[in-house]
Amino acid sequence: MKAIEIKKDLFYVGVNDRTKHLFENLWPLPQGVSYNSYLLIDEKTVLFDTVEIGYSDVFFSKLESALNGKALDYLVVNHMEPDHSGSLALLKTKYPNIEIIGNARTAEMLAGYYGITDNLKIITDGEELKTGKHTLQFHLIPMVHWPETMVTYDITEKTLFSGDAFGTFGALDGGITDTQLRPERYWDEMIRYYSNIVGKYGSPVQKAIAKLSGIEIATICATHGPMWTEKENISKVVALYDKLSKYETEPGVVIAYGSMYGHTEQMAETIASELAAQGIRDIVIHNVSVSPHSNIIRDVFKYNGLIVGCPTYNNQLYPEMEALLSKLAARGIKNRYFGYFGSFTWAGAAVKNIAAFAETSGWEVVGVPAEMKQAMNQQSRDAAVALAQAMAEKIKSDKK
Ligand SMILES: Cc1cc2nc3c(=O)[nH]c(=O)nc-3n(C[C@H](O)[C@H](O)[C@H](O)COP(=O)(O)O)c2cc1C
Ligand SMILES: [Fe+2]
Ligand SMILES: [Fe+2]
Repeated sequence: MKAIEIKKDLFYVGVNDRTKHLFENLWPLPQGVSYNSYLLIDEKTVLFDTVEIGYSDVFFSKLESALNGKALDYLVVNHMEPDHSGSLALLKTKYPNIEIIGNARTAEMLAGYYGITDNLKIITDGEELKTGKHTLQFHLIPMVHWPETMVTYDITEKTLFSGDAFGTFGALDGGITDTQLRPERYWDEMIRYYSNIVGKYGSPVQKAIAKLSGIEIATICATHGPMWTEKENISKVVALYDKLSKYETEPGVVIAYGSMYGHTEQMAETIASELAAQGIRDIVIHNVSVSPHSNIIRDVFKYNGLIVGCPTYNNQLYPEMEALLSKLAARGIKNRYFGYFGSFTWAGAAVKNIAAFAETSGWEVVGVPAEMKQAMNQQSRDAAVALAQAMAEKIKSDKK
């Protein structure tokens, strides 16, 4: 496979993965994912990150084509997660003289993962490296989303090699830069990527954005998804990461429900109908047993309202709801309006357990929790409607 030239001296040597079902064995990849790696050809040659080990064959053939017989001088490791460092040990056997550039945290992981302790160049925050015509500047952005994460800025070309920051799910189907493809395809996948993978680290992302705010960016080369070259798209990508990391939202309500025999589902439908009757247009219902939690988390990051409900199951929460709530709790999501409902047949635990979750979430609980015994009756219907009305009122008052 041949490398693709992005601009003068810069080559794309990344790969597409359309085989993996679940990223991190957790998050579905309906449109695949790319592992991006870049080669800068200067007096010294510099590779930025590698790819997942399963794609090393394709990667090395692209790399060899781009090097065109030149030696490989440096590997910059912006991120050690194995979707990018997977081919690193093999790279070192093929190019034994390569010098690996990372920070102190990178070095510790290089030793632990790959037993690599030699030919390292340990950089500190803000340090620069001249490679010929180009000067690279390293910026540490710890906990976006691992402790060793950093970005590399090519001062000469104003290219930001950003690691996972500004990345997105979605393979590159032909075009690799935003001018060669339809960016619309990626926006929703970017929210899903951010919320699933980086979502917990809003505050480190904010610090990173503040730190990089002074530099002019002409091209973003992230480790997943398209290369962003157009001003409008660069602003959009940075603004999206900024907004998501502040946990800012649009007005709308996500209803996530669990149900075995359809009774609790009827409550979800009743709540949604009433929200619509109250003028809420953005309502998304997810069945927690069917919708990938990845998509539910994406939508919770989009909208300011969340209503959850499920049956009592062996005196506990319905398991799929338990799983969803624990994934939501792990992300430290802020500023949501939260309502809930639940059902039981002989002794209710669902509503009680969601109440305990609500307390730890720090969210504003809206309305009175609607609890249903066995099947829908006038009382439980009224409770569901009242809950929806309370939520609608909050969402509408927020719009003003
Ligand atoms: C495996 C199983 C365990 C259940 N455990 C409880 C329970 O501990 N307490 C209770 O009141 N109801 C229990 N139920 C009854 C369900 O809560 C009830 O069927 C459900 O709330 C009805 O809603 P649905 O039609 O939406 O599934 C259980 C039902 C099943 C199938
Ligand atoms: Fe990562
Ligand atoms: Fe990654």
